[in-house]
Amino acid sequence: MRALILAGLAGAAMLAAVLVMSAVTWLWLGGFDAGAASPESRLAAGAQRIALDHQLELAEAAAGSPPAPTSKSLIFGFRQYDAECAACHGTPDEPRALWARSMNPPSPDLTETPTRLTAKQLFWLICHGVKMTGMPAFGVHRTDRQISDLTLFVRTLPNLKAQDYQSLRATYGPAPKPFSLTPNAACLTAK
Ligand code: HEC
Repeated sequence: MRALILAGLAGAAMLAAVLVMSAVTWLWLGGFDAGAASPESRLAAGAQRIALDHQLELAEAAAGSPPAPTSKSLIFGFRQYDAECAACHGTPDEPRALWARSMNPPSPDLTETPTRLTAKQLFWLICHGVKMTGMPAFGVHRTDRQISDLTLFVRTLPNLKAQDYQSLRATYGPAPKPFSLTPNAACLTAK
């Protein structure tokens, strides 16, 4: 009986070694195209989607809430959006940059395809970013307050006309660039 178990374990270890070696050989022969011009494999994209959807569900069910918007939130949200999001996600008066369409996956134009995420989910997504897509984690250099302002602005964006956006820009201008990468948003560690 003991010999049988040992033989079984040895067989499983050999099978695992063969699988690892085959995977390494496949990578070495260029089986996985790491370039961004070709679509992501269905397996990787599917796993990514399932993981993200699940985390957004958890974010929705979490007990805590993002800081409530203030009377200045829309303006502060606009200033950050114009400085740090517009190139990838577009504005009512200017489409997203050409290179944003060459990203894999391309960043969605949030004026053409308004987000369907809830406020809590948006807050989570802007704070944490999305791995393997190019969506940055803004919690690494912005605060919870600032991310909450962005959340409100992203929800308002589809209702803004080009003139509204231009007059916001003329009156308030973009936000100053953040000067440190200190992870100071509590949302990064909140459960
Ligand atoms: C370098 C490009 C880039 C920048 C800059 C960027 N994003 Fe993104 N963003 C992306 C990509 C790519 C995705 C798609 C992620 C995916 O496929 O899950 C995305 C997804 C999103 C989504 C989810 C849309 C949806 O409904 O599924 C929101 C909301 C968002 N970004 C908001 C922001 C905000 C707010 C900022 C600025 C503070 C920002 N992004 C900056 C690339 C960017």
